[in-house]
Amino acid sequence: MANAIEVSNVTMRFNMSKERVDSIKEFLIKKVKRQLRFEEFLALKDVSLNVEQGDVYGLVGLNGSGKSTLLKVISGILKPTKGTAKTYGTISPLIELGAGFDMDLTARENIFLNGSVLGYSHAQMREKFDEIVEFSELQDFIDVAVKNFSSGMVARLGFAIATITKPDILIVDEILSVGDFLFQQKCEARIQDLMSGGTTVLMVSHSIEQIERLCRHVMWLDHGTIRMAGEMEPVCEAYKAFRK
Ligand SMILES: Nc1ncnc2c1ncn2[C@@H]1O[C@H](COP(=O)(O)OP(=O)(O)O)[C@@H](O)[C@H]1O
Ligand SMILES: [Mg+2]
Repeated sequence: MANAIEVSNVTMRFNMSKERVDSIKEFLIKKVKRQLRFEEFLALKDVSLNVEQGDVYGLVGLNGSGKSTLLKVISGILKPTKGTAKTYGTISPLIELGAGFDMDLTARENIFLNGSVLGYSHAQMREKFDEIVEFSELQDFIDVAVKNFSSGMVARLGFAIATITKPDILIVDEILSVGDFLFQQKCEARIQDLMSGGTTVLMVSHSIEQIERLCRHVMWLDHGTIRMAGEMEPVCEAYKAFRK
């Protein structure tokens, strides 16, 4: 089976300023004088990961272990300091709530905006429109500006748009833990739908039970390094024992 995602020896370094500067002017002066000191922080250390086409792969790990950073590197949002990340096929990243939405526009307008970002024509989106609205359960709010939505509503709209188009690769960061139980079930059902249609899924979830239900393979990240990776069951068992 060919790979859908190939991550090779990725290291991600963030520079965090150690100094408090009170203004941009002060920052620029210090920058010119090279007086800024930075603390380097490695969010990912030499991480490699191959995800086969059609696989459903989960990432687990405590807060701050590097899960979101890895998803952003794979989605092309962050450029790794070292190493490479490649994806094959169309990719739909659901990373941050409302990323890709213009908060001042209505849900209707955002559906068309996102559609064009994903490469769909106006006509194609018109065809999908009713299904998106129905899935997101936002019929009564479709002409309301998204800035007035709750985080759950934003997540519903984002998920509906990202999955309507059957991407080759779906990347999901935590968003399935927002919203009510019924909606989570709907999202799971749709992920299972996409899975049976061959979509590769890489997901992070707060819920280890959800990872266990959906994923075939799992990677456990710990302080930016791979603690364990492979078949779902042994990795989840080890992670659960560690968390206790
Ligand atoms: N843009 C950034 N600048 C500096 N540090 C960051 C940035 N993004 C993430 N980090 C840090 O990198 C670490 C990993 O973050 P993240 O990938 O969000 O972890 P997780 O999703 O597993 O909770 C955290 O310590 C976080 O504070
Ligand atoms: Mg995260």
